[in-house]
Amino acid sequence: MSVWALLVAAGTGERLGEERPKAFVRLGELPLLAEPLRRLEDSGWIDAIVIAVPAGWEEPTILLAEELSATKVVAAVTGGATRAESVRTALAEVPEDVVVALVHDAARPLLTEDLIERVLAPLSDGWDGVVPGLPLTDTVKRVRDGAIVETVDRTGLYAVQTPQAFLAPVLRRAYAGDLAGATDCAALVEAAGGRVTVVEGEPRLLKVTTTADLELVASWL
Ligand code: CTP
Ligand code: MG
Repeated sequence: MSVWALLVAAGTGERLGEERPKAFVRLGELPLLAEPLRRLEDSGWIDAIVIAVPAGWEEPTILLAEELSATKVVAAVTGGATRAESVRTALAEVPEDVVVALVHDAARPLLTEDLIERVLAPLSDGWDGVVPGLPLTDTVKRVRDGAIVETVDRTGLYAVQTPQAFLAPVLRRAYAGDLAGATDCAALVEAAGGRVTVVEGEPRLLKVTTTADLELVASWL
């Protein structure tokens, strides 16, 4: 079973507010991107890696891969205007005979080998896709114009993370259509009729959005 990782790093990092794109902001000595890239490179499950980066950052990305001796990196492609478009561009690099595509946000640096194994396992049991998720523990409210209009029943509600694993042909079909409104890959696969399951996520797989998140991740390293 060949597994290709798509590492999406083409966002601007608007909410982080740094001059450079989020994936290239420093985390310790290296750009943020280096951490998830090294972890995918070191994974025994991953055969090849495609990285989507902002326009102009393709060459620095290849140099970073060389610096890390990340020999699984086959391409650094120019991402699109949305995450979904960046995934589509990276997916175009995946050969037809590849069995599994694993899509990961560069903004979640601390992925683990255990989690990669967890999201891949259900694909052998007939699932089209697998996402890591954490059950919501806080009480959830729907608010309109500042007033609470509803306390939502949180039974069965999960906060979903990446890496998300899919049978590659299923993911390809899901990305052949309209991408509008999709905030993760699973949403498109679900909309295309695919069967997607949830495995236990990891609290430390925090998505770096703000400076405080970046500091928290740095403290965990
Ligand atoms: N992403 C991408 N292409 C885009 C937008 C996002 O590849 N056009 C990637 C980001 O690089 C990130 C992941 O999708 O790894 C999740 O996106 P997010 O955390 O929202 O990152 P940004 O869009 O960069 O941040 P912001 O929304 O604050 O601008
Ligand atoms: Mg964004």
